[in-house]
Order: sequence, then structure tokens, then C-alpha cells
Amino acid sequence: MSDVLYFNGRFTTTDERVVGVEDRGFQFGDAVYEVFKFLRKRPVFLAEHHRRMERGLREIEIPSPWDLTRFAAVTRDLLDRTAFDDGIVYVQVTRGEARRAHFYPEGMTPTVVAYSRGFQFPDAAAKARGIAVITTPDLRWKQCQVKSVNLLPNALAKKKAQRAGAVEAVFVDDGIVREGASSSFFVVRDGRLITHPLDEHILPGVVRDQAISLALAAKIRVDERPLRDDELFGLDEAFITSTTMGVMPAVEIDGRVIANSRRGEITTTLQRMLDELETRA
Ligand code: PDD
Repeated sequence: MSDVLYFNGRFTTTDERVVGVEDRGFQFGDAVYEVFKFLRKRPVFLAEHHRRMERGLREIEIPSPWDLTRFAAVTRDLLDRTAFDDGIVYVQVTRGEARRAHFYPEGMTPTVVAYSRGFQFPDAAAKARGIAVITTPDLRWKQCQVKSVNLLPNALAKKKAQRAGAVEAVFVDDGIVREGASSSFFVVRDGRLITHPLDEHILPGVVRDQAISLALAAKIRVDERPLRDDELFGLDEAFITSTTMGVMPAVEIDGRVIANSRRGEITTTLQRMLDELETRA
């Protein structure tokens, strides 16, 4: 089944080939993207995704195509045309199309693409079971707070994880644990939640933010601080967060089992709280 596609102001389907070969998103990775989820046709954390996209666009000097009202309206329209109730929306805004040159012309018109996809979110059993992760060197550029489409290091890292029988690769840089190739990363030590602080080394994950707020609401102490890779030994719990995975236990790191491979208490609490929040959103 083809999915609904929004392209530069009109609706079509993903069967139609719409992006030009000289689109800068295609040739230079000159673009930002977002992935948000919808449940029962309702977008989850839409304003937060819009805010992050706006920030990214500003940082790489692409004019924003949509304010929040317009973003919400296009999303509504897209989901109304979508045949299924739960899934994800992928949005990409590129600098636009121009004769290939590293120097881009001034005043380009951005290319705007958004489409819906059905998505199988992890069920209760998968969320209880958790995943294995590996660590791998962080080969990304130095502006990871921008959700740019330059995902080659991420894709190679994920493939490496898959070949090692894992699901996620966690980037380690200079002995510091940054984040997953497509997720934020948390650990629990001595009852405290630890995750990398917001800076240019990580993406400000929407679910990361929610998990921190939920933890604080549950009176769990949260340290946003750099975690050394030697602290990955002797953990009480570890988990990743992302739009598609929610809060997902990491029960094995580089082949070492964490806490007998059992989902931890804090992880379980945050899963429950996030589920409630998402269904209310
Ligand atoms: N990835 N860090 C990176 C590098 C990511 O690519 C993602 C999300 C996250 C988590 O962000 P959020 O909680 O806002 O989903 C962290 C998306 C899902 C993707 O590329 O498909």
C-alpha cells in the first residue's frame, strides 16, 4: 500500500517520485528532518518536534516553512488522509533545489516533504525483554544537536550493532558516552538516573526530555552529566529512549549482561509513565 505524501504544498502518495536530483538534501545532506509518532491518529509531542526542527533550521540558515499552527494543520490533513491509526510521520526540509555547487544561492525555496508510515511499536513483551547494545566510536560531525539528514555514521554504527546481534550502537567519544545512533541513552547507578547533558554532542531527544521530567515527577534524581565509558561497568539499569522505541531497557552492553538481564525498576516506572502520557497527549 502506498502512503500519503505531502510535497511542497500538495498531497500525493509515496509512489510519486517528487524530489529533484539536484535537491540539496539529496546531494549535500543539506536538510533537517523529524520523526514523530501518532496514536489513534493523534500526533504525539508535536509542538516539541516542531520546536526542535525550527531550531535546527535556524542553525543551518534554512528559512522555516511552517509555524506551529501550519505544521499542526498539515499534520492533521496528512493523518486524515492516512489509512491506519498508529504510525510515524517523517518530515524533511531541505535547502531546496539548485544547480549543483557547494556555494548555495541566496533566497532558495526549501523543499518540504512529510509522509506517514505504519509502524509496529514495541509491545509489552518487547518492552519487558529489552535490547542488547554495543558501544562504538562517534564518527559524527560536531553539531549533533541539529537533526540533519547526514546519517552515514549512524547507519554504519547501527549495521555494526546488527551484525553483533544487538539493536543499538551507543557512541563513545573521548571516553565519554554520548547517545545511541538513533536514540538517547540513560543509565541508573545508585538510584540516580544519568544521561549526557544537552550540548552539541547529542540530539535533544524529545523522549529524553519527557523521561527526565517524568523521573523528576517520580522523585527520581537525575544527573545530566557526561558519563565515562568505564562507568558502564556495574550498572543497576540502562535504557535508551526514542520516538519509535519509547523507553527501552538495554540489558546487555558489548556482550556484558546488566542486572541479570532483568528490566530495572526505574526503567519500568518510566515506561509506564511515558505510556500514560503518550495516550493522553
Ligand atoms: N531518531 N539521538 C539520535 C541521534 C536520534 O536519531 C534520535 C531519534 C534520538 C531520540 O530522539 P527522539 O526522542 O526525539 O525521537 C536521539 C529518530 C527516531 C530516527 O532517526 O528515526
